[in-house]
Amino acid sequence: MGRGYIFIGKGGVGKTTCSAALAVNLAENHRTLIASLDPAHNLGDVYGVRLSEKPTKISENLFAIEVNTDLLTKKYLERTVSRIRGMYSYLKVLNLDRYVDSLKYSPGIEEYSILEGLTDLISLDYDHIVLDMPPTGLTVRVLTLPYTALIWIEKLMELRNEILSRRKTIESVTGRKCVIIDGQEVKIPVEEKEDPVMVELKEKREKMELVRKFLSEKCSIFLVANPEPLSLFEGERAIDALKNFGMKVSGVIINKHIQDNEVTARLEKIGKTVKVPLLSSHPHGVDMLREIGKLLFDVAEVDK
Ligand SMILES: Nc1ncnc2c1ncn2[C@@H]1O[C@H](COP(=O)(O)OP(=O)(O)OP(=O)(O)O)[C@@H](O)[C@H]1O
Ligand SMILES: [Mg+2]
Repeated sequence: MGRGYIFIGKGGVGKTTCSAALAVNLAENHRTLIASLDPAHNLGDVYGVRLSEKPTKISENLFAIEVNTDLLTKKYLERTVSRIRGMYSYLKVLNLDRYVDSLKYSPGIEEYSILEGLTDLISLDYDHIVLDMPPTGLTVRVLTLPYTALIWIEKLMELRNEILSRRKTIESVTGRKCVIIDGQEVKIPVEEKEDPVMVELKEKREKMELVRKFLSEKCSIFLVANPEPLSLFEGERAIDALKNFGMKVSGVIINKHIQDNEVTARLEKIGKTVKVPLLSSHPHGVDMLREIGKLLFDVAEVDK
């Protein structure tokens, strides 16, 4: 598992620019992956390179991906439907495939598929992984999802254990180990290891724990803000939300800085701060980004 870097902040403050810039500099000494998990990608525009879900080489040691979150959602729903069908054979009467298309609009699905994308990335073999995230609201929901999901998974495991233990009691009283479904004898699982629902819950718990470990122990989170009140307020709210889950912001980037004001003073109180000046043209391409990345090293505290 490599070291992770996440930039959070209001829409348009410069998260993609800062992510791309830090990645260029990290790659000077380490194998680095930068991945856009923002469904509205523009990482490729910043590097001036067409990107896809497969790593594209940007420079020596630097690879970039734009994760296809629509595809992840589709795969996730198809996998879920096929698992449900396997676990609950009596649901055969329902045509679950019909629901896949509408389920993709369910609340939480976008967050879950971005988290799936993040989980796939952290197991890749890179020293540094920079994650270009969507604006604050969605990112905070994605980052807190492993924590809330773990609470639910533990609860569901307790309930499932209760069901298994009751099944065991019934089996010992009646001696019946099977039920007939559609004219076929189906064994009713009573042990944890043979119960597909429990196996699935354990797999999910393992996956969520891995992401939680990455986020809490291996990842640095930075706030990007512009010297204007709305990006400050949104940033402060995001920091509070993350704090509730034990995640803290390691530094602040005041991007498009022109001069200090009340907002910059308040941002500086949050933590270690770096100021990136407002440039006359939009930052793009490896050489221009490298200059911004040099400034970011001050807050990133990476092993150069
Ligand atoms: N220091 C800077 N000076 C001048 N322009 C900048 C600077 N940083 C970023 N920009 C420009 O600001 C715009 C938004 O930047 P960027 O896309 O990096 O923000 P973002 O936070 O990732 O946005 P989104 O929330 O939409 O993903 C872009 O046009 C970018 O080129
Ligand atoms: Mg962006």
